[in-house]
Amino acid sequence: MGVLEGKIALVTGAASGIGRSTAEAFAKEGVSHIALVDIDEQGILSTSKIVSDLKTSFSTHCADVSQEDLVERTLNEVIDEHGRLDIAFNNAGINHPSSRFHELEIGDWKEMIETNLTSVFLCMKYELIHMLKSDTKSAIVNTSSGAGIVPAPGQAHYTAAKHGVVGLTKSVAAEYGKLGIRCNVILPGLVDTPMIRDASGELTDRARKTLERISPNGELIKPEEIAETVVWLSSEGSVKVNGQSVVIDGGGIMR
Ligand SMILES: NC(=O)c1ccc[n+]([C@@H]2O[C@H](COP(=O)([O-])OP(=O)(O)OC[C@H]3O[C@@H](n4cnc5c(N)ncnc54)[C@H](O)[C@@H]3O)[C@@H](O)[C@H]2O)c1
Repeated sequence: MGVLEGKIALVTGAASGIGRSTAEAFAKEGVSHIALVDIDEQGILSTSKIVSDLKTSFSTHCADVSQEDLVERTLNEVIDEHGRLDIAFNNAGINHPSSRFHELEIGDWKEMIETNLTSVFLCMKYELIHMLKSDTKSAIVNTSSGAGIVPAPGQAHYTAAKHGVVGLTKSVAAEYGKLGIRCNVILPGLVDTPMIRDASGELTDRARKTLERISPNGELIKPEEIAETVVWLSSEGSVKVNGQSVVIDGGGIMR
């Protein structure tokens, strides 16, 4: 029996990378339904094939999670169909090319904050509305980054957004933990997903430099290694863990 047997789960950023691997891990751990949310329709279909091969019920929701009406609609669709939501993994995000702070364009700043921070606020807002009505315990896991506690060079807006995700997580954990809703955040190091590779599949220069700077052994992290921690934080095995920032980088950052 899996550790998430019978749970109703939702994953954003499910079309690729960490989100896809976590959807697969959730299915292997016995969730009874998984809502796959992403802006990339084709990518969600590929993930749904993986989940379907594991004989797990799924629904696909093509939505930009930085848009309030689309987030509200997505959560309503899940609740209308399944009556409750037990697990939410708010993971969708983007990256930009590096830029010196004083050269950062306001348009890039706004896009980053909306996609990587406002989306987490919106998802948690509508998840909480429904989780509060449920008798069962719920778990929320958000995706930040090592840039959620130390600055990523040339990425002031990414750093600010990911610090913000840690703050939102603590706020929700403090306010709703006593009501049976836990909220934790993962802070991955450099994970081998499309985010860190160029169009030809090579590591970007920035990723190569980051790997040298932060990895204790020069190894990229596999998305499925991140998924393992998300499963644990979503399960009863971590029932007393709330409001915590879990760095998953092989020991690059220690504090
Ligand atoms: N890859 C890394 O090294 C790394 C390190 C630390 C943190 N992270 C974080 O992990 C999360 C997942 O990234 P990944 O590495 O799997 O990258 P990825 O590019 O493989 O996946 C990100 C997914 O988010 C989706 N997405 C982007 N904007 C969206 C929006 N507005 N609405 C809905 N979906 C949207 C994309 O379509 C994509 O499927 C991100 O939040 C990222 O910042 C990644």
